[in-house]
Amino acid sequence: MSTAADYSRGRSGAPPPLFPGNGFTNMRRSQRDALGFFNEISATADVAAFRQAHRKPYITSHPEAFKQVFGVQQEQFPKTSLGNDILRWMLKDGLLTSQGDAWKRQNHLLKPAFKGSFISAFGGDIQAACIASVERLAAAGEKPVLLQQEMQSLTLDIIGRILFGDTLLDERPDTLAFRRSVDDSNHLFRRLINGIPLPPNRITPTGRLMLKSRAVQERFLDGVIQQARADRPRFSGSILDALLTAADDPDNHWATDDHIRDQLLILLAAGHETTTNALAATWYLLAQNPKTLGQLREEWQEVLAGDPAGAEHFDKLVLTQQVLKESMRLIPPVWITGRGVLPDTEILGYSLKGGNDILLLFHSLHRHPEFWDEPEKFRPERFAKPLAHKFSWLPFGAGRRICIGSHLAMLEATLALATLGRRFDFELQPGYEYQPEPLVTQVVADGLPVTVREVR
Ligand code: HEM
Repeated sequence: MSTAADYSRGRSGAPPPLFPGNGFTNMRRSQRDALGFFNEISATADVAAFRQAHRKPYITSHPEAFKQVFGVQQEQFPKTSLGNDILRWMLKDGLLTSQGDAWKRQNHLLKPAFKGSFISAFGGDIQAACIASVERLAAAGEKPVLLQQEMQSLTLDIIGRILFGDTLLDERPDTLAFRRSVDDSNHLFRRLINGIPLPPNRITPTGRLMLKSRAVQERFLDGVIQQARADRPRFSGSILDALLTAADDPDNHWATDDHIRDQLLILLAAGHETTTNALAATWYLLAQNPKTLGQLREEWQEVLAGDPAGAEHFDKLVLTQQVLKESMRLIPPVWITGRGVLPDTEILGYSLKGGNDILLLFHSLHRHPEFWDEPEKFRPERFAKPLAHKFSWLPFGAGRRICIGSHLAMLEATLALATLGRRFDFELQPGYEYQPEPLVTQVVADGLPVTVREVR
């Protein structure tokens, strides 16, 4: 395999080539079709630069560049990009958006709770949420269902049980408003990053909408925290309980209720939007690939032997996990991320100017022709072999800021596929065409309308 030194050969110190187009035309193009536009730029060089509004970010989809940014040189690529600033305006400071000591403190507190061994203990909760989803789908009869929305109900139920220790979200009358406001924020993010980004304010329509969404989310979570403070035993053992316990310690000045609220918002938002989209994309791909669905049903029959899918089956659901991995390769829920470049540095022989952003395009990383055979084809069995490059498949990111919820996501999505897939066929509505909607997460457009049929 080629190394970083091989890729640098012949261009040491040169700036990345500049993609044609001025800041305005490029901004218009990314407003119309961000995914297509960024893919096009990224195909021109291992690292390219382009003008967008008044900025000149770099973009890459080369695994060796991901290795430098997330791994070898991660100190030089902090989370200070424009995208991260906008996320911080939307979600304030939590594990996803913070930096330095604040991030270290939060990571130290939360990481143990999301370890694989700890998360397996939530197998029963995940199973219960999957069974509730089966009941809702069975009740729909053969009426059309928006499967994306059902996946959102399911994943929100799961993360709610993990954060709060029970089915609190089912009971609260404001859960639906919260859920809608998270969808709104996802759309607003795209609008801000494609326009002239301004912190939330009452002057611009986008700023007003963002403040409104944020207020709905704050009211909802303040209500949950009040409820937990008034009835601690009910929340015992939950992640919220751990955060409240940290706040009880007078040495932890940082652990205020506002801080706990911001932390919960990030865990709730990051913890269900992504998995919703991974599942919706997988159902879509399985509807296109009935042979694989047939093979999955054989696996479910053999491994589960009629029992409800639980954490104890996870390791044996090998094809199910390969299908999920292939789905997240083709339709990565997080399709792009960004980092700041600080100070001037070099990757793959290109010199990067400190102060600019670098965009990391997971979508075309996962299709890089040098590292993937027939990249557009859905072939889950490719994950039976080692990857061609350790950094060629990164749906959960990598390095220090790797997704804290990757074990949870894989466990819940595997159990959800097995539980729902052995009971139902999801038939896409006639004429449905998948159009990716690249917001913060990549959303399966139009809510994925399907007819639900019991498997005979
Ligand atoms: C299929 C599902 C998921 C995908 C594809 C996904 C993807 C990602 C990616 C790519 C990152 C890194 C972003 C970057 O480096 O800029 C990330 C970070 C993060 N994810 Fe996930 N995620 C998923 C599920 C979850 C779940 C279930 C949680 C629940 C807690 C979660 C919480 C977080 C948090 C808190 C971070 C920030 C970590 C840090 O910066 O230290 N994610 N996720």
